[in-house]
Amino acid sequence: MRVASEAVRVTSSAGSICWQVGNFVDQGSIQPLDYIVYDVFANQLGLTLRNRIVWTFGHGTHAKRRFSGRHETVLWFTKTNDYFFDLDAVRVPQKYPGKRHYKGPQRGQYSGNPLGKNPGDVWDIPNVKAKHVEKTEHPCQFPLALAKRLITSLTPKGGLVVDPYMGSGTAGAAAITLGRRFIGSDLEEKYVDIARDRLSKAVQNKLPERPDIPVRTPVPTEAVTKRPRHFKEGQGNG
Ligand SMILES: C[S@@+](CC[C@H](N)C(=O)[O-])C[C@H]1O[C@@H](n2cnc3c(N)ncnc32)[C@H](O)[C@@H]1O
Repeated sequence: MRVASEAVRVTSSAGSICWQVGNFVDQGSIQPLDYIVYDVFANQLGLTLRNRIVWTFGHGTHAKRRFSGRHETVLWFTKTNDYFFDLDAVRVPQKYPGKRHYKGPQRGQYSGNPLGKNPGDVWDIPNVKAKHVEKTEHPCQFPLALAKRLITSLTPKGGLVVDPYMGSGTAGAAAITLGRRFIGSDLEEKYVDIARDRLSKAVQNKLPERPDIPVRTPVPTEAVTKRPRHFKEGQGNG
């Protein structure tokens, strides 16, 4: 609660607070942590929730007695109604850019936004596992693409990004790459060292990064895509 109220105090009136929560399981029982985060920031500190962004990824811990957790959430709050939001900077290509209005006064005109479509509130971005190009020794590192979408849309160039739990410094590296300033902290010195290293690579434009492109579909001819003979054919195995 102290960190939350300090975060609210230092956020500018046009600023945003994004709080990410993972898939927390306590003795087999899922704990919906974003419910608690919402209570703190909205009910107790008076912020407005603008989006509950679902970050989804294809790989994670395998579960046997429930569906495997393959998403985490980011709650995006603002302090006022005059908040900075650059939607155009994060638009994505339309599936059918050639689609036109088929009735009404705009009949025949293209119906989509020429700058692309709103990316929505479900973001499919690979999580940072062993072979990910961005992987460091930090056990729960975020992908740069996740931080970059938030920073690009919610802060102006030169704006200040603060991450009190910076871990490997993903938010900081993203902020620097995007021309923002950054302040971060972490309890663990070894993570601060990793973050320092990544921040300095970001300054030098040498930071390994997976481009924010759609997740690739498996190529049928690749060895890893082929079903081993002893895997049962049928449901689940195509
Ligand atoms: C989920 S990780 C953050 C990962 C980060 N977003 C990244 O991409 O690497 C949370 C971090 O918070 C740090 N932490 C936990 N409690 C803390 C506290 N009271 N003050 C500062 N950092 C803390 C942990 O050491 C950990 O590195």
